[in-house]
Order: sequence, then structure tokens, then C-alpha cells
Amino acid sequence: MADCGKGLQQVRDIIAAARKDCSLSEKLQFYDNWATQYEEDVSVVEYKAPHLAALALASVCQLNRESKLVLDVACGTGRAAEELHRCGFNLFHGLDGSAGMLEVAKKKELYQELKQSLLGPKQLPCDSEKYDAVIIVGALSDGNVPVSVLPELLRVTKPVPKVHNDFRWILDPVWRLHEEEGIVSCYTGATFLEEVGGPPKRSTIRKSGQNIHSISILYGLTLREAQHLVLVWVSYGYTDYGGLVCMTARSSIPNLQYKAELEEEMSSLQNKGFWEQVLVQEEEHWMKVTSEREITQESDYIPGVIYIYRKMSAPSIAS
Ligand SMILES: C[S@@+](CC[C@H](N)C(=O)[O-])C[C@H]1O[C@@H](n2cnc3c(N)ncnc32)[C@H](O)[C@@H]1O
Repeated sequence: MADCGKGLQQVRDIIAAARKDCSLSEKLQFYDNWATQYEEDVSVVEYKAPHLAALALASVCQLNRESKLVLDVACGTGRAAEELHRCGFNLFHGLDGSAGMLEVAKKKELYQELKQSLLGPKQLPCDSEKYDAVIIVGALSDGNVPVSVLPELLRVTKPVPKVHNDFRWILDPVWRLHEEEGIVSCYTGATFLEEVGGPPKRSTIRKSGQNIHSISILYGLTLREAQHLVLVWVSYGYTDYGGLVCMTARSSIPNLQYKAELEEEMSSLQNKGFWEQVLVQEEEHWMKVTSEREITQESDYIPGVIYIYRKMSAPSIAS
């Protein structure tokens, strides 16, 4: 990225202004004015969130990335889509409240669709259950996008097809057993399909019971092979099915209260069966310290966190 020539303190002042308590329309106007300088400025404070979030999403979405439709919420100038594109994703829709930021994003020619939209409790201008992945980076914080957007992120995400939930439910006891023994999945859904030729029928699994011994007899496998088969069923159901929601938040002191509210809402949605946590990744070097309140003795950087959830085929979230 080009060096904008601004010093660290100048950029800190701009970021402080971006986080200032003001009305939403003032905030979006601020982003409108900042749009053409935004990327150069945030590179001065080594803002890594889009890069780290894209790597995390790619790590849990290993198959057919090029055909996954991703909704980039609060897309800004398109940094997250750029990073996801480097990881092999290719289909993007974007939403943001700032026309200026969207204008910059449009020039990247990465998005098939970009819409100006306020983000909050109101419906997003998107169909339900449309997206393979929804990502929101750098916008879940006080004065930006409120926590009340979460049910909307869920609504527009594809659910895990019901049959895959059932597979997992049936196989879960076996899976746990092997997790305890330290055996982890070593196949992907793709190799499973190649080697076994498709998921086993539900009736077959039911008949086979929930233990590895009966599965090995049923398929004429050694116990070791049967262990792999069971683990493959699990990863088949979980590698390529159901939409993912990837969210980020700063973990620095000024954002801790917002982050606690965010996590409470995430847990509440999980307890209701709407989604399931796939990954929580703490990152030490999210970006450089930008305000006095973020300064700690340990580091010049503030930490951040990436959360990924998989939407389940639970009761409708439309309400
Ligand atoms: C810090 S930028 C992050 C942009 C991009 N995701 C990135 O990581 O570079 C925050 C973006 O969220 C948008 N935004 C913040 N609050 C919003 C709201 N309530 N409704 C719509 N857009 C909002 C701003 O216009 C801005 O583009």
C-alpha cells in the first residue's frame, strides 16, 4: 500500500474522530470524506483485521471457495473482499452506509453487487438464507454497527441442511469418544466423496447404532478405517454445508463493554439453536494503539478477536 505521508499521530487523530460519539448521519458523512484516504491511513496503524479475518474464514471454508457467495457487511472500501479474493473467494456482495466508501469499493471491480444501507436492527436489503458466508470486519464497535444487527446477519445466511444436523446428532457420541482419544479428522469432505462415494444413508446410520464396532462390521472395515469413516461423516457435514458468519471486534479497553454485549448476543443466539460457534481466534496484533486509553505497558498494538459461527437449520430468525 502506498505511504500517504501522514505521521502516526495524524492518523491517530483521524481514527479518534471516526470513533467520536455523534449521530449516525454525521458518522457516515465522516466516512464519506475519509473514503479516498482511508486505506492509506489505516495502513499507517497496521490495521490487519481484514487480512486476519479472511485467513480465518478460509481456514474453515476449505472447499469450493470460488463458488461461495459472500456478503461483506460494512464493506467500506472493500478491504475484506480483497483479502478473501486472495484466498480464492470470488463472489461478493457488499453493504455499507457511506456512499463515499462504496464508491472506492466499486472501483476494485470485485463486487457483483454493492448497496448503500444503514446497518442495525432494521432488515438488511437482502433475501433470507442467500449467502454462503457473511463477514463484518472493523465495524462492530460503539458508534458504528450496533449488536442488534446479528439476527439480520443470521437471517441472510444459508442454514445447514437438516439432514446434516441429523448426521451429526447421530454420530456425536462416537465423535466425542474419539476426540477424547486425541484422534482428529484427517479427511476433508472432498476426499470422503472420492473415496467413499457419498454420504451414507440415514437409515444405514441408524441401523448401525452409535458405535464404531458395528460400523466397521457393516462396511467390512478394520476398526481404524471405521474410525476414519465416522470422522469423515462429521467433516462432510461440517466442511461444506451451511453458511458461516464471520465477525471481528477490537479487544482493547474502550471496546470491552461493546464486546461483552456482542458476546452475550452471540451466546444467546447459540443457546436458541440458531447458530453454532466454529472458531474464536484472539489476535495480539490487530492494529497499533490509536488512543491514550488503549495504551498498555505490554504492547504497542491492541488485540482483536475473530468469531465464526455456522448457521443451523433452527426455527426461523425472520422475526
Ligand atoms: C472502519 S470501516 C471498516 C470497513 C471495512 N470493513 C474494513 O475493514 O476496512 C467501518 C465501515 O462501517 C460503515 N458503518 C459504520 N456504521 C454503520 C452503520 N450503522 N450503518 C451502515 N454503515 C456503517 C462505515 O461507513 C465504514 O465504511
